[in-house]
Amino acid sequence: MSNAIKSIVDEDVREKVVLIRADLNIPLSDGKIQDLTRVKRLLPTIKFLLNSGSKLVICSHLGRPNGEYFEAYSLKPLVKVLSDILKTKVNFSNSCIGHGALEAKKNLQSGEILLLENLRFHKGETENNLEFARNLSVSCDIFVNDAFSCSHRSHASLHAITNFLPSFSGILLDQEIKALTSVLKLPVKPVAALVGGAKISTKINIIEFLITKMDFIIIGGAMANTFLLAMGYDVGKSMVERDAINLAKKILDKSKKFNCQLILPSDVVVSKYFEENSDHKTVNVSNISSDMMALDIGPKTIENITAIFKNIKTLLWNGPLGAFEINPFGKGTFALAKVAAELTIKDQLITVAGGGDTASALNKSGVAEDFTYISSAGGAFLEWLEGIELPAISVLGKN
Ligand code: 3PG
Repeated sequence: MSNAIKSIVDEDVREKVVLIRADLNIPLSDGKIQDLTRVKRLLPTIKFLLNSGSKLVICSHLGRPNGEYFEAYSLKPLVKVLSDILKTKVNFSNSCIGHGALEAKKNLQSGEILLLENLRFHKGETENNLEFARNLSVSCDIFVNDAFSCSHRSHASLHAITNFLPSFSGILLDQEIKALTSVLKLPVKPVAALVGGAKISTKINIIEFLITKMDFIIIGGAMANTFLLAMGYDVGKSMVERDAINLAKKILDKSKKFNCQLILPSDVVVSKYFEENSDHKTVNVSNISSDMMALDIGPKTIENITAIFKNIKTLLWNGPLGAFEINPFGKGTFALAKVAAELTIKDQLITVAGGGDTASALNKSGVAEDFTYISSAGGAFLEWLEGIELPAISVLGKN
């Protein structure tokens, strides 16, 4: 982590009104919360601040309402969730700025929480508007960014707000930066990245950046098919990006230049149909027939990657290795997640995962909790993997 970023854990926050930017952008359906992971990840910061005698004002966005009020995007359902978990009174303000919010902040007592309504009901949030940020900051003493997963956005509650309040990182943000630093900036070597997913075009910048950092890059998912095609294999009906063949060739060349070993499947599980429980078999990558598509890596590839996992010290995991959502094509992803988890338990491997549907693939494998760290971020994690400085983190460092 940049030394310039000050963590809230080192501050005296007694009696202070602390504005926390959280990421409560959680899946809701008919007002019912589908997944509490992001709320749970926030608890260490909330508990720390409550125990330190401060008054908490929590703000977040939910969805993309584009500056207009939509009941479906209201944060109100979170009031009961937070008060049940924390056994503390949680007040709610129907607007994140204006008279109501100001009064609610003023009435707040030590050890109490005020949850503000969705920031994105105001255009000023996404426009990084200074006046909106000033309004948000009124009657608060300190700002805490605990929303790493939103920190790729230059939005008012993450960026402009730092003009008005002394600004700090929260515990979750500290953890995320520490985990990413441990794999990208100061990894215990050898270090490998496993990059899966469907499209090279969405991962090209990540792979290009990682080539300069990693000893191995293991490519899986449908993306591997485009590489195999670029290497001259016939991949039958497999999903490929024909217009990315040159990109794949460029990556293959660049990896040689940087002495980074690019690992591709040597065998794959193929089927005629992209369907649950469809007939399937394992073939060598040189034997994919024209009516078949590759949907998972095969046992020889699993064995090869297992051997790599046993020889490295740090692993960065982003994306699935096959069509894990449909049975039985998650086998490769789940088998290797188990190997990585076992090595982590034995203290032989540092495992950091995140971005896109990585967390759900690893959760399905049943071993996610044994990884060293699983990021709660999607887009922000991916931008960090591209080597992009996240604006809301940079601005914290300048504060
Ligand atoms: C996320 O879910 O990745 C964050 O909450 C950011 O949401 P956004 O992509 O709508 O900015």
